[in-house]
Amino acid sequence: MEILVTGGAGFIGSAVVRQLAAAGHGVRVLDALLPAVHPSGRAPDLPDGVPFLHGDVRDAAAVERSLDGVDAVCHQAAMVGPGVDPADAPAYAGCNDLGTAVLLAAMARAGVRRMVLAGSVAVYGEGRYRCPEHGEVAPGPRRPEDLDAGRFDPTCPRCGAELVPGLVTEEAPGDPRNVSAATKLAQEHLAAAWARACGGAVLVLRYATVYGPGMPRDTPHAGVASVFRSALARGEAPRVLEDGGQRRDFVHVGDVAAANLAALAAVGDRPPGSVRAYNAGSGEAHTVGTMAAALAAAAGGPEPLVTGEYRLGDVRHLTADSSRLRAELGWRPQMPFLAGTAEFAAAPLRD
Ligand SMILES: NC(=O)c1ccc[n+]([C@@H]2O[C@H](COP(=O)([O-])OP(=O)(O)OC[C@H]3O[C@@H](n4cnc5c(N)ncnc54)[C@H](O)[C@@H]3O)[C@@H](O)[C@H]2O)c1
Ligand SMILES: [Zn+2]
Repeated sequence: MEILVTGGAGFIGSAVVRQLAAAGHGVRVLDALLPAVHPSGRAPDLPDGVPFLHGDVRDAAAVERSLDGVDAVCHQAAMVGPGVDPADAPAYAGCNDLGTAVLLAAMARAGVRRMVLAGSVAVYGEGRYRCPEHGEVAPGPRRPEDLDAGRFDPTCPRCGAELVPGLVTEEAPGDPRNVSAATKLAQEHLAAAWARACGGAVLVLRYATVYGPGMPRDTPHAGVASVFRSALARGEAPRVLEDGGQRRDFVHVGDVAAANLAALAAVGDRPPGSVRAYNAGSGEAHTVGTMAAALAAAAGGPEPLVTGEYRLGDVRHLTADSSRLRAELGWRPQMPFLAGTAEFAAAPLRD
């Protein structure tokens, strides 16, 4: 297969490119090298024979050139992270949604009918919880007054009881809690409308919290593991928000890349007009505090500092049920948490 990887200079995209090239596929990269994540502005080292096209997915002409002879698109390009400022919203919507729309329109013109889309479990908002009285519930956004008082765990929206966090499945409705998550959900809707309109097929991989070698260094857009790793590299304690008890599913970038290869292999056999979403997580829940402690221990650095601070757009617990991806695409995560964090603690960050 000949595959275009948008965002192929990024953390996850470059891992996908390496695995695709190693598997013998034709691969090309389209990436705008956003200054926020590529401060050097340099094109990345790509495997031999992988062309790098410096261009923006919002630029129809650049996208059109990149699609010539392509069988499927692996769409990773996006602005990531929760963002810092409401003023960032146009940039998120531009890169993620306008960019996806321009890409899909160009694919329709070029007759390219298959897409694997990098989605996010952030589209669910809070994960799912169980109330002893009311069963499964989906709590709304947390109130600043609760967070200020250190009441980080959401309570039952019906009776106020304490809740037990559980796993969120692909059937859960979208409920994004920040701009980035809203634009990721809109990408899915745009891709679904495109598939119906032109007989395309789309597989969406809703990534859990991805970590591993090649993560961008500490920026407002970086994932939590990179923020901790960057602090340790400076000899500082990782600063853990809230009480550190936030549950996430940390999945290794190599496993996420392998999920993309499985999805690209499968998308060609999907019926025209179809869209199917898959959670892509390790299947294990760990707290953010545990991640910080594991990295600090592996790096021989100072113990994490739990700050009690919070960010309003964050959700408390978000762990995904990834059994659909295992069952339908035969994918298995390979990297255990302790081995992955030990590797990451020693691995270089990007730029
Ligand atoms: N890292 C995670 O934990 C995580 C979790 C869920 C979903 N995702 C999704 O995975 C994908 C890859 O994220 P990542 O973590 O590798 O981020 P990244 O920032 O390392 O990579 C994204 C790449 O896309 C490029 N890009 C951004 N806007 C572009 C545009 N308009 N035109 C062309 N290129 C553009 C950037 O230059 C960058 O190289 C994104 O779609 C993101 O939403 C990531
Ligand atoms: Zn209840």
